[in-house]
Amino acid sequence: MSKTPEKQPGDPKTTGHSWDGIEEFDNPMPRWWLWTFYATIVWGVIYTILYPAWPLVQSATAGVLGWSTRANVQQEIVEFEERNAPLNAALVATPLEDISKDPNLQQYAVNAGGAVFRTWCAQCHGSGAQGAKGFPNLLDDAWLWGGTLEDIVHTVAHGIRNEESDEARYSEMPAFGEILEPEEISQVVQYVMSLSGAQTDDAAAQAGKVVFEDNCAACHGEDGKGDVTQGAPNLTDAIWLYGGDEKTLTETVTYSRFGVMPAWQNRLTEAQIRAVSAYVHQLGGGQ
Ligand code: HEC
Ligand code: HEC
Repeated sequence: MSKTPEKQPGDPKTTGHSWDGIEEFDNPMPRWWLWTFYATIVWGVIYTILYPAWPLVQSATAGVLGWSTRANVQQEIVEFEERNAPLNAALVATPLEDISKDPNLQQYAVNAGGAVFRTWCAQCHGSGAQGAKGFPNLLDDAWLWGGTLEDIVHTVAHGIRNEESDEARYSEMPAFGEILEPEEISQVVQYVMSLSGAQTDDAAAQAGKVVFEDNCAACHGEDGKGDVTQGAPNLTDAIWLYGGDEKTLTETVTYSRFGVMPAWQNRLTEAQIRAVSAYVHQLGGGQ
């Protein structure tokens, strides 16, 4: 144990603490540091008076400036809607076939429609509108219910096979498991595969042609090219809503399918419906 040396006059001031002979100087803080420190305290007090700061049970002190991020966003939304109001009005007033003739309006419809699509449609049709099993790809030019802007507006406004709108697109393919023999089903499946060049059994496909003419042509057409007035898919283009392999086709024909899309007329404004339809129409396959 070393001993604390005796104090000499002129030694630096210490706090008097000593540990194992190590002592603590008692120098004053640098002045610039002290003033900065006081300034931050003053600034902090003023800030908590002006802006929301102290947590309360439900919220926080509001601050005398009344500043709020939520109110700011609300205000921006209002301004944004006011700015777009004339464009939305024009979108609703312009005949559908003339929208694309006005480059400004078309540009606005596509931008606004893209936002609507990402919010309301992407869950089912995919973020890029590429679709998925049972949910049609909206990028190609194969249309179940028609690909003119007018057709698309109707499909979007009223939906498909739903109970919400009396004008919903509606049709129902029978479940042929209750109508045809299993052999006839496998024959007609071979025939359907032959329509897009994929059949494996020629004789069965030949027999299936007769089954098709008797049971399927009324909706899918003599040539299998489908019918947009009934939402019956084209079976010759190798584009499949549910799948074109033997197993999936057998399932489709045996149990049938019943794709449902909600109606948007009560969820979206007329301008939003027209905008999202214009967006879908210009994705590549619009007619
Ligand atoms: C809950 C899922 C779902 C949502 C959400 C949805 N759709 Fe659909 N949509 C479908 C299904 C399923 C079909 C195909 C129905 C059928 O088999 O005929 C379809 C078909 C369509 C068609 C017809 C395609 C054709 O080939 O004729 C269009 C156009 C369409 N949807 C656009 C939209 C738009 C635009 C939105 C957003 C406002 C949207 N859909 C939201 C499920 C959905
Ligand atoms: C009453 C009209 C009707 C009849 C008759 C009918 N279909 Fe369909 N078919 C449809 C409709 C509508 C769809 C679309 C169902 C959906 O989108 O949910 C469909 C879908 C299909 C699909 C799915 C295509 C795909 O892209 O995945 C196949 C395959 C098919 N039908 C084959 C047949 C065959 C084979 C027969 C005869 C044995 C037949 N259909 C009879 C209306 C009909």
